[in-house]
Amino acid sequence: MNPNGNMKVGFFQFSPVPGRKEENVERITSSLRGALADLLVLPELFSTGYLFENKEELKRSAEIIPDGPTFLKLADLAAEEKFNLVYGIAEREGDEVFNSSVLVTPAGDFWVYRKLHLFNREKLWFSPGNKELEVIDIGKAKVGMMVCFDWIFPEVARILALKGAQIICHPANLILTYCQHAMITRCVENRVFAITANRTGTEERKETKVAFTGRSQVVTPQGDVLIQADGVEDTLRITDIDPNLALDKNFTSRNHLFDDRRTEFYRKGNLC
Ligand code: ACM
Repeated sequence: MNPNGNMKVGFFQFSPVPGRKEENVERITSSLRGALADLLVLPELFSTGYLFENKEELKRSAEIIPDGPTFLKLADLAAEEKFNLVYGIAEREGDEVFNSSVLVTPAGDFWVYRKLHLFNREKLWFSPGNKELEVIDIGKAKVGMMVCFDWIFPEVARILALKGAQIICHPANLILTYCQHAMITRCVENRVFAITANRTGTEERKETKVAFTGRSQVVTPQGDVLIQADGVEDTLRITDIDPNLALDKNFTSRNHLFDDRRTEFYRKGNLC
């Protein structure tokens, strides 16, 4: 715990039962009941599980936001328990399904981020995100959202930080082992906090079997891992942070992380 912190943030790591939406949502509402927090993050696709047989199966379990039952239940939970909640969900719009992250506040205001960088088989089922990266002021801090594999594109965290995010909320279903380490770098290079909420367990569909790596974590702008779960446990973890630490972008007295960028050189050759 950080004794100087004025904001309580954390994650719930668990193993959803594939295809059992109601059961998974019920698991969340009972596990988070009574949690004293300002901001909690759940894994990517927490209500459906990760693997799908085909797009039709995904479509059947995807929901419209804000009318879908999962949004309504979690908005009630956020209101009753007075925390901001971020979670990953299969979001349906017309004929398309996005791998989305929702932020819902205790007042019922909400924002949706649609995963920009789909991983591997997700490309068979989901449409890639089609919305700008946004930063949302939740009172105690400004927060941004990214989803799982977005971590390997440093542009995502950088853009959220440039837009003013102090905390990056990161629902995940991580399969590879790199991300938890990489997020330390994302935090240091942008001087932001990050909450990675990963899942545990395994899923198997036909020829595909995946094992999720857990180790959900909260990382500071200095790259310290304040809390981290292990690879298998179901756990709710909450820590105190001072989000204002993310406002100082001076790396040394002569180095400012944003002002020192040489963007005129980065743009040569239209590389970005
Ligand atoms: C991932 O993006 N779910 C690996």
